[in-house]
Amino acid sequence: MGHPIAIEERPVEHGDALNLLRALIAEAPGPKAAAQRVVDELHNRFGHYDWVGIYWLDADAGELVLGPWTGPEATEHTRIPLGVGICGAAAASGRTEIVDDVTADPRYLACFASTRSEIVVPIFAEGHVVGEIDIDGSDAAAYGETDARFLEEVAALLAPLRPRPGG
Ligand code: SME
Repeated sequence: MGHPIAIEERPVEHGDALNLLRALIAEAPGPKAAAQRVVDELHNRFGHYDWVGIYWLDADAGELVLGPWTGPEATEHTRIPLGVGICGAAAASGRTEIVDDVTADPRYLACFASTRSEIVVPIFAEGHVVGEIDIDGSDAAAYGETDARFLEEVAALLAPLRPRPGG
């Protein structure tokens, strides 16, 4: 008998969190409140998610606009042009960015003195990037592939919550 094909297993805490996030979204009074609850829950549940924010893409302006966030400090980067910073790179390419050491990445836009590593996960709707989840950590190399797969599932839950014209 050969070895079974390796299937990457989802950690129990990620499955539990996804179930809770689905419930929080369903119970929220509207999309903005739902997205805020998601970032709050991610921040509260996972100690290495020190700052958690959502940027929504304003496609007409070619900029990411800060939406709900939670963390110890506000960021001055409330609008980020596509292609600028780690956030702008992930939105332009549609690929998750994991930066183990922000001080070694020339693209990095500094927000907080305490940040050492960062993960940015695009949010897709109808095949296009509509936003992203941005998480900063105070430890180097705080994020890995398991975080990426989890946050990509969270991104799929967030996509229907994006701001719409007139809504
Ligand atoms: N560091 C990001 C900017 C956003 S703050 O982390 C909240 C970047 O390099 O794009």
